Amino acid sequence: MVECNEQYWDFVAKLRMDERVLDGFIGKMVKITPVQQIAYMTKYSDCFRIALLKNEPVGYFGVIEDDIRICVHPAYQKRGIGKFLVNSCFGIWPTALAKVKVTNIPSQNLFESCGYKLAYYLYTREELMCLIKDVRSMCCFLRERKRETHRGRKTHKKRTKKWTTTPPPPRTTST
Ligand SMILES: CC(C)(COP(=O)(O)OP(=O)(O)OC[C@H]1O[C@@H](n2cnc3c(N)ncnc32)[C@H](O)[C@@H]1OP(=O)(O)O)[C@@H](O)C(=O)NCCC(=O)NCCS
Repeated sequence: MVECNEQYWDFVAKLRMDERVLDGFIGKMVKITPVQQIAYMTKYSDCFRIALLKNEPVGYFGVIEDDIRICVHPAYQKRGIGKFLVNSCFGIWPTALAKVKVTNIPSQNLFESCGYKLAYYLYTREELMCLIKDVRSMCCFLRERKRETHRGRKTHKKRTKKWTTTPPPPRTTST
């Protein structure tokens, strides 16, 4: 695993836009322009790490504001690279938490196999599960909730996020 030097910025952008991985992420990003990627990485490259296999990048892991993002190239998935990244990066960002779509089973399995546990559900525009490994992550959650509440009071805006420990109801399928 190496730092996310400039030579890997393009790899991260291409992988993030790869249609085969898009469904796993919260919110769909259609296109990242080179200018956007340079601006983003100039600010956040320190928050990323890259997994190399025979010197070639095969996956990335990042933490921004204690929020984990991870992706392994489809050609290299299910070989333990995700697990390697999560376990290796835990020492760097021990308080980070994983917000995973309830429909993203590979990602849930990945974090659970690395010792992360469901802490709460978060309903935004999508149904998410928040998984933590270290109790210190709960502090981040509480801080975020406080910020949201404060922001809601200040702007008198209706809160769009809802935290709960209740799982979402089963989906009804229309025929
Ligand atoms: C989630 C992701 C990072 C997993 O990476 P990976 O390198 O394939 O994962 P690993 O090979 O290390 O597997 C780790 C665990 O997850 C399980 N897993 C991985 N892919 C799986 C799949 N498609 N279905 C079910 N379980 C899966 C493995 O069985 C393994 O569990 P085990 O240790 O009990 O055997 C990868 O699927 C990915 O990049 N997905 C698209 C992007 C994404 O969803 N990112 C997460 C956003 S929160």
